Amino acid sequence: MFDTTHAHITTWAIGLILFVVALALHKGGNEKGKKIVQMILRVFYLLILITGILLFSKHQSYNPALYGLKFLGGVIVIAMMEMILVRLSKGKGTGLFWGIFIIALIVTFILGIKLPLGWNWLS
Ligand code: HEM
Repeated sequence: MFDTTHAHITTWAIGLILFVVALALHKGGNEKGKKIVQMILRVFYLLILITGILLFSKHQSYNPALYGLKFLGGVIVIAMMEMILVRLSKGKGTGLFWGIFIIALIVTFILGIKLPLGWNWLS
């Protein structure tokens, strides 16, 4: 868990899938289903954070600035998923949050790939 990214990748991949499922349920008018998926997604937020923090705590000294940005980006992605789902339930606008979500997801993904563990498609 400290030296390989498998657990981390598993948690954020499942998290993103649950986010899409919750959006689809909302679109289909199934608010109860969406609420249940959202609860499970919240557990995955914690798992993404725990696996990310374990990797971060062991490896950040290699490049504290980039690891810090990766941490921040990951937290923003999680925060935006939660904001979008909560605001959809309340019938409020989500445009700004979608913008931040997409930018943060791209930055987090590229940083994750660039950093030395696991996938290294950019070096
Ligand atoms: C949904 C949010 C997140 C996404 C999409 C994401 C994505 C990624 C990706 C694509 C990688 C590279 C995997 C690999 O190279 O094998 C990675 C690694 C990593 N992530 Fe995340 N992550 C997220 C959240 C977080 C959070 C919240 C933290 C910190 C608490 C974090 C910390 C890390 C660390 C430290 C690494 C290892 C970087 C390395 O040395 O290669 N991530 N993540």
